[in-house]
Amino acid sequence: MNETIKTMLDRKSCRSFKKEQITDDELKLVVDAGLAAPSGRNLQPTIIVAVQDKETIAKLSRINAAVMESDKDPFYGAPTVLVVLSKQTRTGLEDGSLVIGNMLLAAYSIGLGGCWIHRAKQTFETEEGKELLKEWGIEEEVFGVGNCILGYPDGELHPDLEKYAERAIYVK
Ligand SMILES: Cc1cc2nc3c(=O)[nH]c(=O)nc-3n(C[C@H](O)[C@H](O)[C@H](O)COP(=O)(O)O)c2cc1C
Repeated sequence: MNETIKTMLDRKSCRSFKKEQITDDELKLVVDAGLAAPSGRNLQPTIIVAVQDKETIAKLSRINAAVMESDKDPFYGAPTVLVVLSKQTRTGLEDGSLVIGNMLLAAYSIGLGGCWIHRAKQTFETEEGKELLKEWGIEEEVFGVGNCILGYPDGELHPDLEKYAERAIYVK
């Protein structure tokens, strides 16, 4: 089996991270894999904001948790949060989802832990979220697709057998 297929079959979501930050090279590999995702009409409407500043992560975590009325950290203490935003094109949501899919696979393939964390849409509909967009220099109209948390996994990740339930129909 080739390495790409193996990565796809073995990838698991990680929700427990070491405190240590990932390297800039690792970050760039994952971001580049995200940017290389296909997009409808090749409009490339997505923007990735790689957040490693602790204060900003704490702010994003607080806004995200508030959507669920929770006081727990929805990012599980991950040291890196990749926020994926998209412009309002016809396929912006699908394009952004592929970006996150690519990044999760790339992360897993180089030994990083990653997980999609939802509620980016609601996050960037809040006043605080809109202020962050301004701070990041994003002037155009965008919406939040999702967050991809990253870090070194704390502990082993085991295959999720449930994932392999038969959900395919072959019509020949
Ligand atoms: C659209 C989407 C939203 C998700 N949101 C969250 C989330 O907010 N928090 C979380 O811990 N996991 C989230 N996940 C991860 C899923 O729970 C996870 O992919 C699923 O349980 C299957 O596990 P696996 O990724 O290890 O195969 C999300 C996944 C997707 C695709």
